[in-house]
Amino acid sequence: MPAPAHPTTEPHEATAATTPATAPAEVVTPLVRGVAVLQRLTEAGGTLSPSGLERATGLARSTVDRITATLARMGYVRLEGRDGRDVVLTPRLMELGNAYLAALRLPALLDARADALADELDESVSLAVGDRDGIRFIHQATRRRAMSLSFRIGDLLPAERTAPGPLFATEWTEEDWRRRQERRATDPEDRGFPAIPPRQHMADDFTERTAQAARDGWSLDDQLIEPGLVAVSVPVRDPATRRIACVASVVSHTSRHSADDLRTTLLPRLRETVTAMEEDLREPPAPPTAPAPSDLATWTAASKQELGREFVESLARGLTVLTAFGEDRPALTLAEVAKATGLARATARRALITYEHLGLVRHAPDTHTFTLTPRVLSLGFPPLSRTSLPRIAQPHLQDLAAEVHESASLAVLTPSAEEIQYTARAATARIMSVDITVGTRLPARATALGRALLADLPPHLYSLVDAELEEGLRAIAVPIRDRAGRTVAAADIATHAARHTPEECVELLLPPLRKTASRIEADLHMASRFTRVPLT
Ligand code: PHB
Repeated sequence: MPAPAHPTTEPHEATAATTPATAPAEVVTPLVRGVAVLQRLTEAGGTLSPSGLERATGLARSTVDRITATLARMGYVRLEGRDGRDVVLTPRLMELGNAYLAALRLPALLDARADALADELDESVSLAVGDRDGIRFIHQATRRRAMSLSFRIGDLLPAERTAPGPLFATEWTEEDWRRRQERRATDPEDRGFPAIPPRQHMADDFTERTAQAARDGWSLDDQLIEPGLVAVSVPVRDPATRRIACVASVVSHTSRHSADDLRTTLLPRLRETVTAMEEDLREPPAPPTAPAPSDLATWTAASKQELGREFVESLARGLTVLTAFGEDRPALTLAEVAKATGLARATARRALITYEHLGLVRHAPDTHTFTLTPRVLSLGFPPLSRTSLPRIAQPHLQDLAAEVHESASLAVLTPSAEEIQYTARAATARIMSVDITVGTRLPARATALGRALLADLPPHLYSLVDAELEEGLRAIAVPIRDRAGRTVAAADIATHAARHTPEECVELLLPPLRKTASRIEADLHMASRFTRVPLT
């Protein structure tokens, strides 16, 4: 869904790029600005020009340039476009949201049950967590049919326009209620929530709905987001504390179920699933592991050396703090953060204070630990979670084609395994009489790509086909593997026999091809940790 443009109101996850007077003195301004750049890019769908970023953040062009150069060095954005200047979020950035989702443990424990319920009911099922006076999705098993919005992992919705909202609100503090009141006063049309259409007229009965949810233990959304969209929700409670860990929802359309009959038809099955989910939450967490030693200091020093003024060290160091958290490291003390990142204690402390100020990290004074908040998903997750393998591969194939001056492609096997189908391509010159474009199918056995896909070659082998398909054509291909090590696609370089001998193909073309394949794999593995990445 293209995010509607809302020029008048700051989104609610917004952090102003400029540090307000109320910020603690320790706040690291470049980190505040870097976070704002990432959030504005996220709201824009993943791409902005530098002048677009200037407008969206209010920062000077030179500052925007230094921040984007630093983010590009970290692999979190790519600078592309005709003049090489458009700023585009990369799958690598998902490591920040992945750190939050891994530390939260809920997706790993509950995704499979949500997916199974969606299959059984043939309706969408989602998991959401509370984010102040909003809700944020952490999982989506989407079976959305005609005419309804579907939300992405990381999307933020105002609590009162959802079914999970009243359930979370049963645990709200005075502060949360006050915050909602203020937001409703300054943004009556929800323009600060780019994932949903603006609010029309709506009775503000949220207090009553919350009281009702407290009595019933479930809650309804009768077309609060858009006409036709209905949902029923049940809280999944932490077995130890009985507090809400997340809320599970079944989402349907009035053409299939009215909001009222969701209660009679789907609620009982949702409740059974939630009971099973609560059992799953009893699983003891993995014992904490010592973090791998970090070579961050060496890397930042080298980056500074290379990029000089363009590299903002405090931003790079600060962002690394978020990656210290994970599955077996959900809550960390300051000393543990410093150790995991290799940062000086004072540096780690200032980064954590900055994140707490931005609402990305929470501090528990009783245990002296820090945890990530759902807001970490506002750093790129919604647009990046809707990617595909061809989209992941395209920029890497382009870099490869530019480097070796030959065409580079990605292909998958068709279901019959008789043919390959091209899914991405970066062409330099046309070297074949057949015109290969995305979608072209060729016999699998006659192509290097097909053989790489069929052979499931051990990683050190490759596939070279001489005179493939037609005389004079030579191609070399390597497999692309998913997180589980299964071959899911293949990448190749195709060249003219007159340009390279078979030996040269191996010597000159294989190393850059293998490097490209591992970059595609790294992005695929990052993106598919908590989301399903389509292969075509
Ligand atoms: C969703 O998962 O898309 C969803 C959940 C609850 C709602 C609306 C939509 O109230």
